[in-house]
Amino acid sequence: MPKKVKIHIDKVSKVYQTEDGRELSVLRELSLDILEDEFVCIIGPSGCGKTTLLSIIAGLQPATSGRILVDGHIVSGPGRDRGVVFQEDAIFLWRKVIHNVEYGLQLRKVPKAERRKIVQEYLKLVGLEDFANFFPKELSGGMKKKVALATVYANDPTILLMDEPFGSLDYPTKCRLQLELLKLWKTKTKTTVFITHDVEEAIFLSDRIVVLQNGKVETVYENVLPRPRPDELRVQTEFNKIKGDLRGYLE
Ligand SMILES: Nc1ncnc2c1ncn2[C@@H]1O[C@H](COP(=O)(O)OP(=O)(O)O)[C@@H](O)[C@H]1O
Ligand SMILES: [Mg+2]
Repeated sequence: MPKKVKIHIDKVSKVYQTEDGRELSVLRELSLDILEDEFVCIIGPSGCGKTTLLSIIAGLQPATSGRILVDGHIVSGPGRDRGVVFQEDAIFLWRKVIHNVEYGLQLRKVPKAERRKIVQEYLKLVGLEDFANFFPKELSGGMKKKVALATVYANDPTILLMDEPFGSLDYPTKCRLQLELLKLWKTKTKTTVFITHDVEEAIFLSDRIVVLQNGKVETVYENVLPRPRPDELRVQTEFNKIKGDLRGYLE
């Protein structure tokens, strides 16, 4: 059965007013359908509007024209159905790991015993069960990312929106986190929109790669690499062939 459309982006345009009074047209009637449980990566040069698009899907800012439907409903603001992870860790430095991960559940007044059960489950999934009582400053950059992932997962959104979440990590840590994210995605599948400017990252993670250029979809690349994807895949011929294909669009 064909999968249903989860996120329908319908001719979305965004024009910013710059401080010196000019208009900056960032997205230009951009249309795209993202399917349920799909892992889509969006790549494109710096300044091409990736973050803008993600924040409009998240409901954090409105489009100038056009609309976005999630499960058939027009997006008019943020919602629990959409979890967002940014490049900067949105974690509270003064809260222990466990209290970070349970924050959203606490806001929703989930009873403590249930909350703790959920938090334990997600800490275990990301391999941080022994660090529940640590403070963020006691963790490595990669571990902080895992806390951010566990936190957003604990809220159980149906959509994950990620804006270059691993952009600040060194290469080996980034590779480990990508594997970790794919493991999470396999266990608790969510429609995932992952922004990156790293072509290799996009190939490793995605079902489809959307290349943005001049505020529009330049091309959509079907990534047929089989899953599960082991770390070694990165040096294999098919992988590098895709990298070569995509380079052409990114120049
Ligand atoms: N709030 C804003 N006001 C004015 N211009 C903005 C604003 N946010 C982003 N821009 C501009 O819009 C363009 C696209 O930004 P962005 O969506 O962050 O791109 P990307 O994430 O692809 O690097 C950039 O030129 C940026 O300077
Ligand atoms: Mg950006």
